[in-house]
Amino acid sequence: MASVDVGVGLLGYGTVGSAVSRMLAESGDEIERATGHRLTVVRALVRDPAKNRDFAPGDDVLTDDFAALRDDPRVDVVAEVMGGIEPAGGYVRELLRAGKPVVSANKQLVAREGADLFAIASAAGVQLRFEASVCAAVPVVKVLRESLVAENVHRVLGIVNGTTNFVLSRMARGGTYAEALAEAQALGYAEPDPTDDVTGADAAAKIAILATVAFGSRVLLDDVPYRGIETIEPAHVAAAASFGMALKLIGIATLTEGAVDVRVQPAFVENAHPLASVEGSSNVVVLQGDAIREVTLGGPGAGGIETASAVVADLVSVVGTSGTGFLQNDACWRELPRLDPAGWRAPFYVHLAVADRPGVLGHAAATFAKHDVSIAQLVQHLEGGRAALDLVLHDAPIGSVEAALDELSRSPEMLRRPFIAPVIAA
Ligand code: NAP
Ligand code: HSE
Repeated sequence: MASVDVGVGLLGYGTVGSAVSRMLAESGDEIERATGHRLTVVRALVRDPAKNRDFAPGDDVLTDDFAALRDDPRVDVVAEVMGGIEPAGGYVRELLRAGKPVVSANKQLVAREGADLFAIASAAGVQLRFEASVCAAVPVVKVLRESLVAENVHRVLGIVNGTTNFVLSRMARGGTYAEALAEAQALGYAEPDPTDDVTGADAAAKIAILATVAFGSRVLLDDVPYRGIETIEPAHVAAAASFGMALKLIGIATLTEGAVDVRVQPAFVENAHPLASVEGSSNVVVLQGDAIREVTLGGPGAGGIETASAVVADLVSVVGTSGTGFLQNDACWRELPRLDPAGWRAPFYVHLAVADRPGVLGHAAATFAKHDVSIAQLVQHLEGGRAALDLVLHDAPIGSVEAALDELSRSPEMLRRPFIAPVIAA
């Protein structure tokens, strides 16, 4: 069979872009044998073409002029591995309108502007793929869109940020937050600005994308309340261990009686649950549905070559399926209402820092009872006139638990704002 040459344009040639270039060069023969296509990077847009690169591109590949890439007739398909909303979003729109298929690793862009981008792709009759935007090497978008296309998925639960899981894994072994984050940045796991990782914004964008694909209804980043790991202290990590659990940053998307709830927060995960033992920068996603019951997918969730694997898979899918139908469509086909956020239920872990005085414990218990919240387990640690209370509460609506904590926060014996995390049972 004669091979078809496919010219690849890259928007960005950083951690991920240079790894895509390396993979296409070093695995070119395998890709050609499997697909009959030879994919070659012919143009790559960067800010500074003079910078040293992890994998050297061919002569005259790097440019700082977007028009040189957009108007290059050799570019058949483009991978957006630049990040940020603008100018990346504007470039992707222009390319789609010009009839170039695009694959993107940019979760912030897809989670914020996906509706508009898919409408443009659809009108232009070209594909927009985004596997690398969620969980790097783990093919979860493909599984949801293709393998589970006829499945009623009603819950998606996952560790979807490698940087924060790396930091929490290190803290569980006694490392400090700052050291662990610096190491994750050096290894290329973190976003160029790690704020999105540690605040939970990166995980929120990914779980919004997964919820959109799983439920067929648009979930935007703005629909996802999120908390990150910045307020986590070694005491919280130790408390999780003492209850036979692990502290993890979890994205949870639920479809309950036709209404959607999507959120990201630190959670206490029982040790027997598949998410509890996920270490380092790995990502794991648990999909629950009627027929499948539970399918668990996991693997490397961050890093240049790991993400390149998904980008290259999307490029190969584009060349292998162009003009063949539904996969170039937006995955959304309905609008589902949102669940009242205060009505979302779980058992919760709560950490209270209080004065060690008579009646304080009773007051805490009475306040929970007043809001119809019941205590399942309690451990108290005393130190110099202060008490740290670690409580596990029975299943309750988060609104009731937060109302009890707000009330307790107003009492003089409360020394700090309480810490709250849902418990994920095995
Ligand atoms: P990166 O190393 O910072 O690379 C960004 C690249 O884009 C650089 O080559 C940069 O050029 C170029 N660029 C940025 N702004 C530009 C502009 N205004 N004009 C022209 N070029 C511009 O970032 P990365 O880690 O590869 O991440 C890229 C994307 O992949 C992001 O959306 C990220 O969320 C996503 N992603 C990353 C990972 C990961 O583990 N790193 C995993 C999954 C998804 P210069 O090199 O000249 O500065
Ligand atoms: N910064 C992201 C993470 C990269 O740590 O998971 C993968 O999207």
